[in-house]
Amino acid sequence: MTRRPYIVGNWKMHGTRAMLSEARAIDRAAQRHMKVEVALAPPFTLIHPIHREAEQISVGAQDCHHAEGGAHTGDISAAMVADAGAKFVILGHSERREAHGESDSLVRAKAGAALAAGLRIIMCCGESAKTRDSGRAVAFVKKQLKGSLPSAEEVNGDIAERITVAYEPIWAIGTGTAATVEDIAQMHAEIRGLLVELYGEEQGGAVRILYGGSVKPDNAAEIFAVPDVGGALVGGASLTADSFMGIALAA
Ligand code: G3P
Repeated sequence: MTRRPYIVGNWKMHGTRAMLSEARAIDRAAQRHMKVEVALAPPFTLIHPIHREAEQISVGAQDCHHAEGGAHTGDISAAMVADAGAKFVILGHSERREAHGESDSLVRAKAGAALAAGLRIIMCCGESAKTRDSGRAVAFVKKQLKGSLPSAEEVNGDIAERITVAYEPIWAIGTGTAATVEDIAQMHAEIRGLLVELYGEEQGGAVRILYGGSVKPDNAAEIFAVPDVGGALVGGASLTADSFMGIALAA
């Protein structure tokens, strides 16, 4: 089954209640473009307010803790974000791997916790400019994914429904310059091969692979035309309904 293109906005550490009007506008526009699955990952503080009002879009978190609960000051569990209305969680984003020292094994533990709480996951991967320049980008990304993704047994259900992968080359994030369609095509084909190896032809072949890194309304169409691109994980351009839905319309 071919799944709908999946366009996910990662608001990162942007957004107070003043941004709720933008989320409403995104939700209204998404109701007119049902061919595309639109989702927002706002900061934790806005998950519930957006979820409460949204009729079409789904809301997710940008992270969760790997433990079920306990003495973890300042942390938020997968069950807590699910309770607030989140349907998915973004895991392993390069900004968390870098700023919080998140290892593949920690990200994988978080994936297990998220699945146990009934959340879908968007698993991020991507290489630095240095790794790409050294010619090791494909090997790096495959190793990162192998270490971070849960096994088929751990998913225990519809893998293509519960897991999405997002390829975000670090050098393209927030720079205004997306990866070339050739680089995206090559990496997505490699990721597809790995997903088939891990989850089998049918499920691994159906997992959506998003591209992320400077996706904008004016480059979205050419990126979505690349084989094995199942949508986009969008940062900066998801902060206004106009630019975010401009991207969704290109899908
Ligand atoms: O997770 C989305 C992201 O890292 C890409 O950010 O601002 O380049 O679209 P941006």
